[in-house]
Amino acid sequence: MEIIPNQSLKAYNTFGIEARAKAFIAIQNETELAEVLKDNSGKKLFILGGGSNMLLTQDIDALVIHINNKGITVVKEDDEFVWVKGNAGEVWHEFVLWCIDHNFGGIENLSLIPGNVGATPVQNIGAYGVEIKDTFDSCEAMEITTQQMRTFHKEDCQFGYRESIFKGELKNKYIILSVTFKLRKSNHQINTSYGAIDAELEKMNITNPTIKEVSNAVIAIRQSKLPNPKELGNSGSFFKNPVVPISVYEKAKEKHPDIPSYPVSETLVKVPAGWLIEQAGFKGKRFGDAGIHSKQALVLVNYGQATGSEIWSVAQHIQQTVKEMFGIDIEAEVNVI
Ligand code: EPU
Repeated sequence: MEIIPNQSLKAYNTFGIEARAKAFIAIQNETELAEVLKDNSGKKLFILGGGSNMLLTQDIDALVIHINNKGITVVKEDDEFVWVKGNAGEVWHEFVLWCIDHNFGGIENLSLIPGNVGATPVQNIGAYGVEIKDTFDSCEAMEITTQQMRTFHKEDCQFGYRESIFKGELKNKYIILSVTFKLRKSNHQINTSYGAIDAELEKMNITNPTIKEVSNAVIAIRQSKLPNPKELGNSGSFFKNPVVPISVYEKAKEKHPDIPSYPVSETLVKVPAGWLIEQAGFKGKRFGDAGIHSKQALVLVNYGQATGSEIWSVAQHIQQTVKEMFGIDIEAEVNVI
């Protein structure tokens, strides 16, 4: 374990932004993490997982701790279910594939989401009708100030749409070291409610899909819409889909009769931000090396040398334009640092 000064973070963020950490250390296990936290108590710290949900607009004037503990274990099982624990540093998609290879079902719709296992509960990752909270059993996390481990069960986590307690009242207080999922061993609950999956399976001539086939369909859909961060820097959806009062939606609808919505409650609807951004004319636009993806307007991309500030300016320009056109605020989903 070695603290590296002035480390480039380019390889540690999927936007591929060149920014530097004042100091950097990668930890491989719980003991190492406890040691680093103890030795550096009182210092400014920055916890880094897979770097797939952040935009670096400046150098980080802190000790960056990269959580890199690997390992997947079956914790327990009964006739129907298996509890699988993934350590925080495992790459999420590799974890999903491992589970599918063992015929453990429940997270196949979440294939190919960038990032590491440890980050998945923080923003309750979701795609194609499934969220992590649906199979989440518990996670183990270390309290930064005391280095005590604590287990969080589903009911402790306050999961919401791209939300959890780890983004709320416990922000910067705990470091997640592993996550346990309760998955099905058989009787898989195939969820193709999200239209695009059914259409993709049909294209593949599949009627009774296995979890592997659902995963393959999701991979195909994602690859057709979302840029591969290894080829084009990005952080997935840059904005959240706004949830607004029906009155706000109705007001926007007066001028824009086609505006789509999904019901959330009796008083709230969710509006697809991708649609708003596309209507505002940004889809596929490029400003220097910062741009808006041509196939999914919710995704901002780095064509190579964009700085985080340049991407953030484009994001703010989009927010302003959408607000002026539709009277709707769209909020960043990524952490802007
Ligand atoms: N749309 C457009 N133009 C676009 C993009 C979207 O008009 O350029 C409209 C369409 O009406 C479409 C609707 O938005 O029917 C929904 O689009 P899509 O199915 O692509 O999903 P999304 O709402 O844009 C969300 C998640 C994605 C997830 C997909 C699929 C958020 C912020 N994003 O996107 O998650 O993969 O659903 O379930 O909720 C991520 O969080 O990084 C991410 C990629």
